[in-house]
Amino acid sequence: MMASVAMMMRAAAATTIQTTPSYSHLTARKTMTPSARTRKNHRMDNNNNNNRRRRRGELLQIVSEGTGRFIVGGNWKCNGTRESVKALVEALNKNVPNIEKNCDIYCCPTFLHLPYVKDNLNERFNVCAQNSWVEADLVDPEHHYDSTTGAFTGEISAEMLEDLQVPFVLLGHSERRTLLGDTDEIVGKKVAHARYHGLSVVVCVGETLEERENGTTFDVIFKQLKAVAKEIDDREHSSWGSSVVIAYEPIWAIGTGKVATPEQVQEVHSKIRSWLAENVSEDVAKATRIQYGGSVNASNCADLAKLSDIDGFLVGGASLNGDDFAAICNASSVHYKAVGR
Ligand code: 13P
Repeated sequence: MMASVAMMMRAAAATTIQTTPSYSHLTARKTMTPSARTRKNHRMDNNNNNNRRRRRGELLQIVSEGTGRFIVGGNWKCNGTRESVKALVEALNKNVPNIEKNCDIYCCPTFLHLPYVKDNLNERFNVCAQNSWVEADLVDPEHHYDSTTGAFTGEISAEMLEDLQVPFVLLGHSERRTLLGDTDEIVGKKVAHARYHGLSVVVCVGETLEERENGTTFDVIFKQLKAVAKEIDDREHSSWGSSVVIAYEPIWAIGTGKVATPEQVQEVHSKIRSWLAENVSEDVAKATRIQYGGSVNASNCADLAKLSDIDGFLVGGASLNGDDFAAICNASSVHYKAVGR
C-alpha cells in the first residue's frame, strides 16, 4: 500500500514539476538501517575533510548562486472561506496561460481547504500543506519512521498528506515557531518525518528585528539550519536539492510592508549557501533553492529577483490575489536574465 502511494506520488510529481522531487530517500530510509555509530563516523569524516579543505582555503571559493529552478510559493495562512477559496482558485486557473513555464509553483491552503484546492486548482500549481505533526520527544533518529497517526487530537500527520498525494509541506514558519511553540529541534524532526513519507519540504528560517539589531541574525539562522541538517542522513544528501527548499523570511518583514533590501537578502542567502557548502556539501549548496519571503508583492518582486542568490519567493498577503501572484511567479524570467541562465 505504502509503495503504491509512493509510486503514485512520483508519477504525479513527474507530471506537475519539471524538477521532479526524488523520492529515493523514501526507499533508502525504509530498506537501510545502519547504526547510529556508522552515521556518526560518516559525519566526522565529512567534518574532518571539510576542516582540511578549509585550512587549504578551498571552501573560501564557495558557490555563490544556486542552480535550481525558480520556485514561488503562496502561503494562504489561516485565510479563506469556501467562497473566497473558490474565487482564488478560479483566479489562479485563469492566469495559467499568462504564467511562464520556467518556474515551479506551490500554494498552501489551510488543511480544511486542501482537498478542494487539490481537486480544483490547475496542475500548474502544486499544493502544499502548512504544517505536519511529529511528536516532540522522539529523540532517537530511527524513531522518525514511527507512525505519527493516532491519539493526537487536532493534528495532521505526514502519513495523511502522503495518502492525499500532497507533494509539499511548509515547516518551521515563524508564525508556528513564535505563536505555536515549534522549536528548532521539532522543526528538524518534522522535516525528517515528512521526507520519510515522500514529501518535499519548504523549511522557513529567519530572525526577529531584535536579533537583527543585536547582530545575532546568522547565529539564529545557522542554529535553525543545523537542527534540520542534523536530522537528514548523509545518505539522503543526493535528494536534498530536489526535496528541501529553504525560505528565508525575516520576521520583521512578514506582513509589515517592510521588505528587506536586496543587499540584506543577498547577504543572508549567500551565507546560507556557504553554510550548506561547509556543513552539508557543495553539491547540496548549489542545488538547494533559497526563497525570500516578507512583504513580497507584484511591484517589488522584480528588483529582488535580479539577485543571483534568490531562487524564488514565499509570498503571504499578495498570494491571495490571483493576478498579483501570477506576476510574482513571472519574476522568474527577470531572475534568469539577470543571472544569465
Ligand atoms: P507576507 O508576504 O504577507 O509578508 O507574508 C510572508 C510570509 O510569511 C510567507 O510565508
